[in-house]
Amino acid sequence: MKTQVAIIGAGPAGLMLGHLLRAEGVDCVVLERQTPDYVLGRIRAGVLEQITVSLMERLGLDARLKAEGLVEAGFNLADGERLIRIDCEALTGKTVVVYGQTEITRDLMNAAPARGLEVIYGVADVALHDIESDAPYVTYTKGGAAQRIDVRFIAGCDGFHGPSRKAIPASVAREFERVYPFGWLGILVDVPPCHSELIYANHEHGFALASMRSKTRSRYYIDVPLTEKVEDWPDERIWDELAIRLGPEPAANITRGRSIEKSIAPLRSYVFEPMRHGNMLLCGDAAHIVPPTGAKGLNLAASDVHYAAEALTAFFRRGEADGIAGYSAKALARVWKSERFSWSLTKLMHRFPEDGPFERAMQVAELEYIASSRAAQTSIAENYVGLPV
Ligand code: FAD
Ligand code: DHB
Repeated sequence: MKTQVAIIGAGPAGLMLGHLLRAEGVDCVVLERQTPDYVLGRIRAGVLEQITVSLMERLGLDARLKAEGLVEAGFNLADGERLIRIDCEALTGKTVVVYGQTEITRDLMNAAPARGLEVIYGVADVALHDIESDAPYVTYTKGGAAQRIDVRFIAGCDGFHGPSRKAIPASVAREFERVYPFGWLGILVDVPPCHSELIYANHEHGFALASMRSKTRSRYYIDVPLTEKVEDWPDERIWDELAIRLGPEPAANITRGRSIEKSIAPLRSYVFEPMRHGNMLLCGDAAHIVPPTGAKGLNLAASDVHYAAEALTAFFRRGEADGIAGYSAKALARVWKSERFSWSLTKLMHRFPEDGPFERAMQVAELEYIASSRAAQTSIAENYVGLPV
């Protein structure tokens, strides 16, 4: 097979890029290791910045997002008894939308056939070849049969564990990493949320997040040591912890219920440079990971894809190669700012096992400063709603 761009991975980054390219008349094929049901079964991010919403809008795939997404004007930082409200809309004029990554993926997946976007699911042994040349190709197997796609560019949208990043020679690569000493235990429950806005809590028992997917579906997280297993946490134990960590006011409004999904995600900060090598561009988790505090992972994937689609479209429509050459620097400038925000909010809202009284005093002082300073709240708000693209 021959096409213009091979996209590896049909997560939100790969599907969004595929749709953006097809909308501009660029030919592409998306290769995905898993089945559609498996991809839709992964419960992940829930908060969309304007960039993600506007990409769906531009694609004309925002009908359900508009109808079902919950527009959030602000969110809260809980600190013991107190809720510090960050009024994003008043401080920045912008809002975020609560709409699950699963639903974004479903909308992109369902629209693919009608938009002429070919997605091949259930592929194995994906390998990238000759990415430094102008005629790279991808090999894979499907149902045991060997296949090959010849292309002009490859887009690596295959998440943290995919093969694309590994195709870049170690001699040109730089990696930056911080692994955190806890994971987030998340539950999805069909009960009304305890609050109309998200609450990120720092309590002596540890971190908690009250989030939601709709007015009848809640998403809650607590941080747990990496040694803990999901089996150690029956629902009632999680509810008891949430009630303590979120503080008295939200706790009084918690509706308990049976979890329909429960999983532990490790926390990591990671950046791989460069995000382009030869004719292969990396987008999303393939190039970087943020800890989930701040809800940046999916939104960063969207901004990468926006830059990548612009660069590839300029190349195929107008023969301009500058966008391709500048892609890595442009994407990384935004990536590093989101990395900084996610890292700083993680440090502010979690109790690290190695921290002593001084570090805790710094958290208290910072939360006190945030509570009393419009400038500090504005800084948090403008990062939370998403920095300019
Ligand atoms: P992915 O969604 O990982 O998609 C990559 C795709 O590539 C997958 O479908 C994968 O199957 C496919 N693939 C991998 N290897 C191959 C291969 N060899 N061949 C073909 N296809 C391949 N962010 C938040 O903001 N909030 C959260 O609560 C949150 N929770 C998370 C929980 C978990 C467990 C994880 C892993 C991430 C979470 N994130 C969260 C981050 C957010 O979900 C990601 O940033 C987002 O999914 C990035 O999208 P992506 O398309 O780049 O990568
Ligand atoms: C959700 C996840 C996040 O990481 C976050 O910061 C906010 C919300 C969620 O899954 O709803």
